[in-house]
Amino acid sequence: ELTAIFADMGFSIAEGPHIEDDFHNFTALNIPADHPARQEMDTFYFPEAENGSRMLLRTHTSPVQIRTMMAQKPPIRIIAPGRVYRCDSDQTHTPMFHQIEGLIIDEETHMGHLKWVLQEFCKAFFEVPQLNMRFRPSFFPFTEPSMEVDIQCDRSRPGEVRFGEGTDWMEILGCGMVHPSVIRNCGLDPDEYQGFAFGMGVDRLAMLKYGAPDLRDFFNSDQRWLGHYGFS
Ligand code: FA5
Ligand code: MG
Repeated sequence: ELTAIFADMGFSIAEGPHIEDDFHNFTALNIPADHPARQEMDTFYFPEAENGSRMLLRTHTSPVQIRTMMAQKPPIRIIAPGRVYRCDSDQTHTPMFHQIEGLIIDEETHMGHLKWVLQEFCKAFFEVPQLNMRFRPSFFPFTEPSMEVDIQCDRSRPGEVRFGEGTDWMEILGCGMVHPSVIRNCGLDPDEYQGFAFGMGVDRLAMLKYGAPDLRDFFNSDQRWLGHYGFS
């Protein structure tokens, strides 16, 4: 459903391996060896290879940005859905979850385009004609400037969240303009090319849309839960 909304806008679908190396998951994304951002993305590592390197389960879909920029010349317009992994477990965090990455690189794509794409996506996904969004300054090593996006919602009724109305906000994704160092790390000239990227948590979006209170239930295979949310 999510991927189809972006495909309709003209994005093509890209994929990458779940077992990644340090370069694609971290270093090329401007997250060097001792950077604190690595701690927020603690993951599962494979045994050390003879050369001392260790493969890992990717912590986000952002390595697909790197693989795509290294493999093709701009204009690039991709959407990359897939599984990701982190050492996380609570009501809104599971050790395996799904993200959708978006990436556009060409000569003049700017933040106005980013805003429009995300706005159109949210209206389509939440099935509302109008939806207020809030772009909050944030930090990711691989984007500059970086933002987190909240959508307008109403949480005043117990056990229910409504979108497109109310006075509350709910965070749904991270985004920004691709950092010049990342563009350079992929062999492209940041004076020639620019663009934006975003990454959203698919399971969280489903939780919001369908009002499922605990993310871990998605993976418990309880027939009653699956039936209630309309899975056959
Ligand atoms: C990232 O993973 C960035 N790669 C996103 C990004 C892409 C930013 C491109 C800029 C440009 P973050 O760690 O915040 O960012 O995760 C993104 C989303 O994944 C979160 O907003 C949340 O919805 C979801 N998420 C994170 N950890 C978990 C988890 N353990 N379980 C379920 N969903 C999670
Ligand atoms: Mg976050």
